Amino acid sequence: MTNARTPLIAGNWKMNGSAAAATELARGVAAGAGDVSAELLVCPPAVLIPTVAAVLGAGVALGGQDCHAAESGAHTGDVSAEMLADAGCAYVIVGHSERRTDHGETSELVCAKAEAAHRAGLRAVICIGETDAERDSGKTLDVISSQLAGSTPAASDAANTVIAYEPVWAIGTGRTPTNDEVQEVHAHIRAVIKSSHGDAVAAGVRLLYGGSMKPENATGLLALGDVDGGLIGGASLQAADFLAIAASCP
Ligand code: PGA
Repeated sequence: MTNARTPLIAGNWKMNGSAAAATELARGVAAGAGDVSAELLVCPPAVLIPTVAAVLGAGVALGGQDCHAAESGAHTGDVSAEMLADAGCAYVIVGHSERRTDHGETSELVCAKAEAAHRAGLRAVICIGETDAERDSGKTLDVISSQLAGSTPAASDAANTVIAYEPVWAIGTGRTPTNDEVQEVHAHIRAVIKSSHGDAVAAGVRLLYGGSMKPENATGLLALGDVDGGLIGGASLQAADFLAIAASCP
């Protein structure tokens, strides 16, 4: 069967950059976008989204790193999905482990944020992943099942949702699971989505791997049957590295 899922290479810039640095990075990514067949996405800090939007061009999609579940209102410091859409975003990351840890976000809240993304016409990149203690105690697949069930809206489909598997212990550490371990989890995610959302959604939804992905390990990870791209932190801050990962897509 032909794999109809267009690979997505997403850069999560996290809380890094300035207007000048973001402009340079966005220009670098945009300049190389025509040379790769993968879909490219960059997710700058919220305050830099308009700066990046002004230089990105049509070949690279723009996304937020988080959104509030509500459309507007008294939520000091928050940004709504509608605001991200208005600023030119097509995607928003929700439920990143740094949000779950730093801000106590539960899967229930992540699900509400993903619903907000859909309400605003954005694609939600829903992040899930186990800690090292959970992996060591053999609970990885159980944790993944429960985060997936709790964080994924009933109305999720292959067009409005992307799932990112990011083992917490692999983020920013230089450690990654083996390719077999990644494929095992991704196949499990697709099977869980098949039972919750049906065959068509499971076959079409893109599953990204994230956690210390870099040019040196991208080829093996991106070749796995159920890996449809990557969510890249550190290596997305250098346009050349980000583009090299994108060029590694099969
Ligand atoms: P990393 O981050 O590539 O720096 O490990 C990935 C992520 O947190 O999305």
